[in-house]
Amino acid sequence: SQNIILRDLAVPRFFGAAANTTFLFHDVNYTKVIETQFSIFTPENEMKWESIEPEPNGFDFTAADEIVRFAESVNAKVRGHNFMWGNQLPPWVNDTLSATELDRALKNHITTIMDHYRGKLYSWDVINEMISDNTPNETFKDNIWTQKFGEEAMPKALTYARAVDSQPKLYINDYSIEGINSKSDALYSVVSSFLADGVPVDAIGFQCHFTLGQIPDTLQENLQRFADLGLDVAITELDINLMGPSNATALEQQAKDYWTVVNACVQTKRCVSTSVWGVSDDHSWIPNGSVLPWNAEKQPKPAFYAIADAF
Ligand code: XIL
Repeated sequence: SQNIILRDLAVPRFFGAAANTTFLFHDVNYTKVIETQFSIFTPENEMKWESIEPEPNGFDFTAADEIVRFAESVNAKVRGHNFMWGNQLPPWVNDTLSATELDRALKNHITTIMDHYRGKLYSWDVINEMISDNTPNETFKDNIWTQKFGEEAMPKALTYARAVDSQPKLYINDYSIEGINSKSDALYSVVSSFLADGVPVDAIGFQCHFTLGQIPDTLQENLQRFADLGLDVAITELDINLMGPSNATALEQQAKDYWTVVNACVQTKRCVSTSVWGVSDDHSWIPNGSVLPWNAEKQPKPAFYAIADAF
């Protein structure tokens, strides 16, 4: 396994991971894997609103800069994550502002951060998790953005982002849109209307937080239908939860599932990257799911070899 470098096998696509400054340079074995295997990184938390602008117009780029510098040092790209989301917002954004004030705050947030990282980032998840889980009854998720701006929320953020910097690819990122279903249908019509109306959007991010043995059959077909709109597509937050003990049978099924997802990307011309949400099982946001391609000892699991095989 020492000779298998997934970022090399992935070419012309990127192979990525969520990078986390809690572990980067603090956990030696984590750092060794993250330095060698990936060609694109997403800051796991460091660019979220509560981290990067905890106080009104009070920006703290320290942790986010650390990831951007690290990525540069290993010749990897960075996916900015994220601007408009209902979670990990500081209280001043979530409960105190009028619609006009919130609009100004959003524009200032996007403008200041994109200016800071001008020329350095490959893309931005401008939109994260804004489609409702109750489609088709309701299209947009109920959060501060839709409460204040209604259906103008997403176009606002995308338009502000494009106005600052035309270089980074602008993404709409979401979960449970991986297969063809009511939620991805809702996103498909939202995005189609954005394209028709000239709202800037370059790509769709499919999170892919999956459960063992439950990869949607229509994943590849679904990636393709968004690509056919003229968009890039990407697997952005892949992990596969064993939902039980990490035995040989489960690990083999997990490897198959990883292969299926990476293969769907490889078979889709416009699929630019596959990123896993973390590196090793001990540092995942899902504590006991054994969800990642490296185990707690930072040794490659069967999933690692399956990814290599799929690329
Ligand atoms: C998660 C992080 O992994 C955790 O460390 C944090 O506590 C909560 O957020 N969808 C997303 C990611 O878009 O930003 C989330 O990341 C996981 C779900």
